[in-house]
Formats: sequence, structure tokens, C-alpha cells
Amino acid sequence: MKAAVLYEVNRPLAVEEIELDPPKAGEVRVRIAAAGICRSDLHFMKGEAKLKLPSVLGHEGSAIVEEAGPGVSSVKPGDHGILCFVPNCGRCRFCLTGRSNLCDAHARTGANLFDGTTRLHKGAQRISHMGKVACFAQQAVVPETGCIPIPADVPMPQAALIGCCVTTGVGAAMFSADLRPGSTAAVVGCGGVGLNIIQGAKLLGASKIIAVDINEARLEFARKFGATDFVNPKDQDPVARIRELTDGQGADYTFEAFGSAETAELAYTAARKGGTVVIAGIAPVGDRAAVDLVNLVRDEKTLKGTYYGSARPTVDMHTMLDLYLRGKLDLDDLVGRQYRLEDINEAFADLERGYPGRGLITAF
Ligand SMILES: NC(=O)c1ccc[n+]([C@@H]2O[C@H](COP(=O)([O-])OP(=O)(O)OC[C@H]3O[C@@H](n4cnc5c(N)ncnc54)[C@H](O)[C@@H]3O)[C@@H](O)[C@H]2O)c1
Ligand SMILES: [Zn+2]
Ligand SMILES: [Zn+2]
Repeated sequence: MKAAVLYEVNRPLAVEEIELDPPKAGEVRVRIAAAGICRSDLHFMKGEAKLKLPSVLGHEGSAIVEEAGPGVSSVKPGDHGILCFVPNCGRCRFCLTGRSNLCDAHARTGANLFDGTTRLHKGAQRISHMGKVACFAQQAVVPETGCIPIPADVPMPQAALIGCCVTTGVGAAMFSADLRPGSTAAVVGCGGVGLNIIQGAKLLGASKIIAVDINEARLEFARKFGATDFVNPKDQDPVARIRELTDGQGADYTFEAFGSAETAELAYTAARKGGTVVIAGIAPVGDRAAVDLVNLVRDEKTLKGTYYGSARPTVDMHTMLDLYLRGKLDLDDLVGRQYRLEDINEAFADLERGYPGRGLITAF
């Protein structure tokens, strides 16, 4: 089958024929319908994040089940599903305490399947599966808990977006921040994740949602999703402007959705006394942000990370889907440019250029 393989960092993805072994126990083989272009893939391509190479990237996807391995009971051939980059083992401490986004068995096996091996290879060379998804390919073998069944009439690009940026962004506002109605929020970075934090904050009743981005087109695009005020750090001191917009206080909730020490410090500083700072962006490995510890204590700020929106994907992806189907979340406008798998490197160039809307591979 055809797949986009990352062999080395800072090299284009190679779109080529590789082999996919059949599913083992508890796994399914799926045909990919749509795969979103997320900055997390780009971090691996640039070496800002590490995984075992070569690897098939792609972790935001939707697919149709073609073959079920032995013992699979939650999905069957023909089912449509959202792919999940933290499939759960259902048995570890985190899975059993409602925090399956932190599943230990998944963290331990990483870009291999749960048994520690891969189904992807080219001849004798084994190829890893990013997030146990690897959806920049015509097909994938994923754990059955990594394919969440959905009704067949849900459009597949929108379903794919629930696989990462929607659940991550809306979840960051809903589950990580537990944002209260009437509060103020500032969101640093208005890409796929940031736009979903913005629409999550709107859904939860934020009174003011300040979009912060260095890209004017992306700032303007954020208006559609509920942003009420716009700050470009290139034009003005962003912290001073956020304070000005919040009666000199700072925002009740601030979110970081780019991935750098600089933007994390901005989010931290822009939160008010007693405010909550949620970091969603993945900064380059080794990066450290400076936090004024006296300020942390005296201002009683809460600083927290959010992974997969602190969601329980199997349950909460259905919540996201219901909110979309009832018109409470706008996933239609989120769908940006659509590409063929052959043009995947152009899709990542567009992500770097900051083209508004989430790019997706929809032709394999
Ligand atoms: N926590 C999670 O579970 C999770 C899940 C998905 C993605 N991520 C991470 O979230 C981050 C965002 O991903 P994305 O796909 O939305 O990326 P994206 O590229 O679509 O969006 C990032 C945005 O940040 C803006 N930006 C860049 N520098 C800035 C600055 N100095 N100040 C303000 N804005 C700035 C860009 O213009 C862009 O609009 C990435 O680091 C990604 O790896 C985390
Ligand atoms: Zn992602
Ligand atoms: Zn687990």
C-alpha cells in the first residue's frame, strides 16, 4: 500500500509503496478516509519531538474498518470510525481512574502496537506507527480501542478532526480548564488546536475570548469560532493589551496552543491573580519556560498541561460529535484545503505558511 514515510528529520516525507501485515488479536485493519495536518507531525519532521524512525506519521484520522483480528468485539468490517492516538489498554491505573488519555500501556509501547511490534515494514526494515495511528497511508492496522465507531453518515473530514484538534482544543477548555460561564479567556496560537479552544470557550459561556496570533489571516479566521478580541504580538505588547482588555486584571483562563517557551511564558504572564494557565502546545524537546515562582505563589495561579484535552477519547469523542451534529461546534468551517497523499509535503508547507483552516489529506 501507499504511505508517507519519515526516514530522517528535515527531509520531505517519502510517498512510496510499503507493506502492512494483517491485524493480530485485538487489532483492526482500516482504510483511511481523511487525515488532518497537525503541527505535532511537523514537530517530528523537524526533530523538535522524537520518535522511532522510519515512521508513518499522521494521528488525526477517520477510516472504515476492513478486517478485524481475533477477539475484536467493539467494531466490525464496514464500520466508520474516528482514529485515536491514545488507544487505551483498559487495565492500567490511568484507564481505570478515568484518565485513559494517559494510558500507561500506550505510553510504554509508543509508536509500536500494544504488543511492542509493528505491522508496517518495507522488506526487512520495520516502520513505526505514530500514535498507533499512522494515517498518512491508504490503510492502517490499529488497536480496536484506537478506532471509535461513529454513524456512517458523519462526513469523514470532520470526523478526522475530532481525532485530534477538536478533542484537544475543546477538551482543554471543557475538561482541563473547566472554564466557568462569564469568565474571560486568552488563547495564544489560533491554529487547529487554538480555534477549538476558542469555540470550546464560547460553548462554555466565556464573556470575552481574546485571540493571540502573529498571523493576521489566522486572527481574522478566529472570529468565526467566537473570538471577540484580537491581539497580534508583532504590533503591540500582548500582555499589556490582554490586561487592558480585562480591566487591568489579566484573563481568568489563558491557553497556549503553539508550542514554545516564549508563548508559554506569555500565557502564564497574561493570566490574572488566581487564574488558570493551560499549556496545550508541544514545545521542542528540552525547552524550559521561566516561571516567576514568587508570582506563582502570591498570585495563586494554576499552571497545567493538557494532553488530548484531558479527555477520555472513547467517551468524549462522541460528546464532540454530538455537539457538532447539534450545531454547537463548527467543524465545517474548520475543514481547510484538501490534498492528495502525493502532495503531503505541500500540505505541511501550507501549515508552516499559516494558511487558515485545517488541511486534510482526503485522496489516497
Ligand atoms: N496537547 C495535545 O494533546 C496536543 C494535541 C495536538 C497538537 N498539540 C500541539 O499544539 C500545538 C498547536 O498545534 P496546531 O496543529 O494547532 O498548530 P498550528 O500550526 O495550526 O497553529 C499554531 C498557531 O500558532 C501561531 N503562532 C506562532 N508563533 C506565535 C507566537 N509567537 N505568538 C502567537 N501565536 C503564534 C501560528 O501563527 C499558528 O496560527 C502544537 O505544538 C502541537 O504539537 C498538542
Ligand atoms: Zn494533532
Ligand atoms: Zn491503560
